[in-house]
Order: sequence, then structure tokens, then C-alpha cells
Amino acid sequence: MSIQEFFQSQFNTAPEAVAQAPGRLEFIGNHVDYNKGLVMGVAIDKHISVAVSLRDDDEIHMASAGLNATGTVKLNEVCLQKGPQAFMNYPLGVFEMLRKAGMKAERGFNLADDSTVPTGAGVSSSAAIELATAYALCKIYNFPMSKIDIVRTGQKAENIFVGMPCGILDQGVSGFGEKDAIVRIDCKTEEFSTRPIPAGTVFWVFNSMVKHALVAGDYAKRHASCMNAAAEIGKYNAKIQCLADATPSAVEACRSKLSEEDYKRAMHVVAENARVVEMEHALAVGDLNAVGDLLKASHASSRDLFENSCPEIDFLVAELSAQPNVYGARLSGGGFGGISIALTNGDFTEAQAEKVADAFEAKFGKRPKYFKTTIGTGAGLVG
Ligand code: GLA
Repeated sequence: MSIQEFFQSQFNTAPEAVAQAPGRLEFIGNHVDYNKGLVMGVAIDKHISVAVSLRDDDEIHMASAGLNATGTVKLNEVCLQKGPQAFMNYPLGVFEMLRKAGMKAERGFNLADDSTVPTGAGVSSSAAIELATAYALCKIYNFPMSKIDIVRTGQKAENIFVGMPCGILDQGVSGFGEKDAIVRIDCKTEEFSTRPIPAGTVFWVFNSMVKHALVAGDYAKRHASCMNAAAEIGKYNAKIQCLADATPSAVEACRSKLSEEDYKRAMHVVAENARVVEMEHALAVGDLNAVGDLLKASHASSRDLFENSCPEIDFLVAELSAQPNVYGARLSGGGFGGISIALTNGDFTEAQAEKVADAFEAKFGKRPKYFKTTIGTGAGLVG
């Protein structure tokens, strides 16, 4: 059933706007975005579609095909939902942020969504639904917004409404993704640009099947450590306002002032930021072995310094990296479970992926889901 048909079946009317936004892979730059450094990501060929129409009353009605859920809230009672209506929170958060930005909504709306993005798997289905919702609502409420403002609206929905202190990576890549391109974000200046993906390479995505129950808590803890470390280092060097401004030697010079934990988190971020610069160079000269080594080094740093990996992801990365035709592999995204990505050449086969899945299953007693993805385009209206 198409999103239009699903919408019609739920609300007995046709949608007035349909938008689509992709999930993303973090290519490199782990936990660097909210530290205002450089990150790179790609939009995958899996999307969330959102269809909307205005209502004649003051109610918001939502139906999710993927989650098989429906919910209702009044326009003047929009707040964070708990229990069965919690699935409404990302679209509601976007609606609230649009209203804060000046969008007038005197009438309510119907919203239906459908998804081919796996949820809770580390490919940012949340950013995808935020961006698709923002595009669709801006159209029906006649509130034009630039792409960057749509991206920022998604991030604010997450930061302010949902309470997750994420950076701009997920929304930025979902918004600025382009076919066969890597999105590079300077998170301090919020400049977006693209680089071609190296010819002949393929991304494979392996789900560790670990959903860390405390992911939001662990993420917020890492975020707090980074902010502490930046503030402490900044006391000794006024030019350092965020970790992206610091060098490894600046962090080292403050080591005695930092807890061991904050020191390790900061070392990861500054070195990872530098790796993104090296990655740009390796991509520019087409040195795929260097690209692969940087992916592996990024993973080792997440595992040992940022400590946001887990045995399942470490195993996948080691198994994938040991396979022929693989340039490199790493944890991708927030961590504590989620996905590992591998950059391979075109000769990496399904049989090799199965071999990795077999080894994983033999060790952990569960089979990892995996898929190969092409690099798709970013979010926008499709109807
Ligand atoms: C999650 C967040 C992003 C980013 C990554 C880690 O995906 O939503 O903002 O911080 O983790 O790099």
C-alpha cells in the first residue's frame, strides 16, 4: 500500500502534501558534531514518508503504518506523549518548533507515516521522520523554510521537545544527502558540502541487534563529559570554546585537571576531528587503503577511549575488517549497540556477508540483520 493509500484508509481523504526523508550512516566523525567539529555521513536508500492534510477542527490525528499505532492530541494540548502515543513525539516536536518559529496553525492536521528505515537500529529513523514532517507541515501551513532551517527544526525537536542532546549530523545528512555523495558538515559554521563517494565502493550495514535501553542516558553522559572537558581546557586557553578547538596536546596539558573519564572522551573527540580532515585528503586523492585505515582507527578510538561500543559491534568490525574486499569497518552513530558499517569494493559478496552473520550467530546466539545500501538523495516534498 502506498503512503497515499494508507493515508486515505486512515483519514478518508487524500493528503495535501507528501514528503520523504532518508535514514543516514555516519561515515566518520563519531560524537564530534555537538563538539562543533567536522563530520561526514551518507543518506541511505531507505526512507520515511509522511503525508498530511489540514483538518477542520483543532485536533492532530496521527497514524503510523510501520508501528501500527494511532493517536490524537488537541492543538493547545501538545506536550511530550508517554505510553502508546509516544510514537507521536518526533512529529509533535517538529510541529511545536515550527510554531515557535512563527508558523500559525489555527486548524489541526492529519498525519500518516510509513517507513522502510529500520527503527532503533542506528540509521536515524528519528531524523528522517522529523525532516519529512517538517517539509510536509511547512507546505500545508504555507510556511516556507530553507533547507538549513528545516534541518535545524528537526534538531531542535529532538533537543528541546524530546530531550536528546544530539548534534546536527543526523538531520544534516538526511537533509543535505545527495546521490552517490558523502555529506561533510562543519558543525561550528553549519556549512554543508559534498564529496563524491569513491568509485566502485559499496556500503554494507550490519545491525548488532543490541538496543541499549539506556541509550539516551549514556549519550547524555558522554555529551556532559565533553562539555566538562571543553570548559576545563578553556580555562587555560581562552581560544578553546569547544573540543573541536582543542588539539591533543591541549587536552594532554590539562590531563591532571580532568577526570580520567573526561580525559578519554576528550582525546577521542579531538583525534576523531583530526581524522575527518585526514579522511577528506584520503578521499580527494582516492587512497582507499588510507580511507579504510581511518575507519578502523575511528572504531578503535570509540571502543577504547569513548567507550561507546559493545562486544557485538567490536566483533562485527573485526570480522568485517578481516574479510577480503573490505577497506574498513567501524561503529556508526551514537553507539552502545546499533550498527557497524563496512566500506567494501564491488566484489564483496552476499556469501561473505553470510559468513560474518554465521560467525556472529555462533558467538552471540542471534543473527544480525544486514543490508547493502546505495547512497540516496536527501529529504524533500514528493507530492
Ligand atoms: C547520534 C546523534 C548525532 C551524533 C551521533 C554520534 O546519531 O543523533 O547527533 O552525535 O550520535 O556521532
